[in-house]
Formats: sequence, structure tokens, C-alpha cells
Amino acid sequence: MLGGEAGAMGWVNLWSGILIYGLLGDDDNQDRPTLQHMPLPLSMHTITCNHGMGDELALGCPYSLRGIASVTRRGKACLKLAGVHVTGERLPYTDVETQLPAFAVDDWTLTTWSNDKMAGYFKDWHEDFTVRSSEFRISDAVCSQLLRSGLLHRKPSRDDGGEEAMVELALRNLWVSHPTPSLNGEEDVVYLMAKPKCFHPKAWALALDMRNSTLLGVAEFGVGKPFVGVTYHASTISKYMSLVTPPVAGGYLC
Ligand SMILES: *[C@@H]1O[C@H](CO)[C@@H](O)[C@H](O)[C@H]1NC(C)=O
Repeated sequence: MLGGEAGAMGWVNLWSGILIYGLLGDDDNQDRPTLQHMPLPLSMHTITCNHGMGDELALGCPYSLRGIASVTRRGKACLKLAGVHVTGERLPYTDVETQLPAFAVDDWTLTTWSNDKMAGYFKDWHEDFTVRSSEFRISDAVCSQLLRSGLLHRKPSRDDGGEEAMVELALRNLWVSHPTPSLNGEEDVVYLMAKPKCFHPKAWALALDMRNSTLLGVAEFGVGKPFVGVTYHASTISKYMSLVTPPVAGGYLC
């Protein structure tokens, strides 16, 4: 186990890996703290983009595309990583509603990995699930929740009358970001932020069960500033509160 029994401190770069500083090494090298690197897995798209140069700048900030969680699975410490890959294009105009660049989303794919060996090798990571947006099943109850939520409608991006007054969207057309693995290590649920369009001031949280490719639910998350967007951090605070409906994640606006 990286870091030794005494514990470790880590700095995470969600593209390249985790730098782990073993605060107190194992007994035989107690006075020599260790520094180790744990690589993180990448999807084939990430490896081959930018002509295989793997330029982190070309990939952009990873925080909106990848999320990691340290959980307990079957009594064992385990790292879970989730990544979302969105395909679409930047449209050659400014969105009339947001006054910011317009994008069209064609599709997105969610992938999860886990690692309960943590010896610092690529091969310790196991790809668990890859599910395309169109493969997620939606029950009738969640479907009506989704339709009522307002997430599947957006206003036109241009005022030339080329689009309906209210454009209808499918799950695959949503602007999704911030994949976050559930902190319950026994399940394979990932939370995603979703918006009807990029820079839309409102966001919704989607709960997706990767094991049976099911959309478990949708909840309006909050209203953020269009530039910074809405973001959140998973927490287990809800364990210590008595709530009728558990929140999807402990969140705040930034
Ligand atoms: C998928 O699994 C979850 C529990 O993990 C369950 O609540 C849900 O009903 C299942 N959905 C389907 C369609 O099997």
C-alpha cells in the first residue's frame, strides 16, 4: 500500500496522477519519508487526442471532466475514478441567451475505473464500466421527473427564427461535467452536473447507476454565475443528518 501504515498525503493531478508523500515510512525506513507517483488511467480518446502528444493544455482543466473518490469497498480501501468524454462542436456564433460562445453537444460517454491495490502501477487500475449517454435506461417515473425538471428544454441560440421557440433535447445533448463517483464504495453510482446548454446559469445533478446503465434520478442543483458555473464537492455529511431524502452531494456555489 502506498504511503505505508502511518498514512500519506497526496497531490492529485487528474490527468497525470497522484504524487504521494509517505509521512512516515514503513518501520525499516522510518526516518526516510517516501515520495511516490501513482499514475491515473486515461481513456483512449485522451491518449490519442492532440495527435498523441498528450498535451495537458490541449486537454484543458481536468476538474470538469474527471473526478476521484477514496472509498471503502468490501472492507478494503479503494480509489474510484470517473471520466466523461463529451463530443460536440463550438458553433461559429455567440448564444443570444447567454451572450457567450455557443456549443452543440452530440453525445457523451461516462467511464469508471477502480483501484484497490494502490501499488503505484497503471495495471492496478481496473476499468469497470463505460456507458454511452444513449445506453442509459430511464424508468417511466424518472422520465416524467426529467421532463418536469426543465433540463430537456433550452431557448434558441440564435434569434434568426431558425430554431423552435423552445428546443427539445435528449439526454445525449446535455452539457455534462464534473463526474463524481459516489462515496458509497459498494455501489457504482456516478453523479454528473448537467445543463441544457453551456454557460446556462442553472444546473441539474444526474445520478447514474453504471452497473445496470440506469438514470436513477435528476435534481435541480442550483443557480450559479454563468462564467464559473455551478460546482460541488461530494461529502458524507448526510450520514450525520436525519433527512427524508438524502442529498446527492454536499454542495456549494462558487
Ligand atoms: C439498477 O440498480 C439500482 C440499484 O443499484 C436499482 O435501484 C434500479 O432499480 C436498477 N434499475 C434497473 C432498471 O434494473
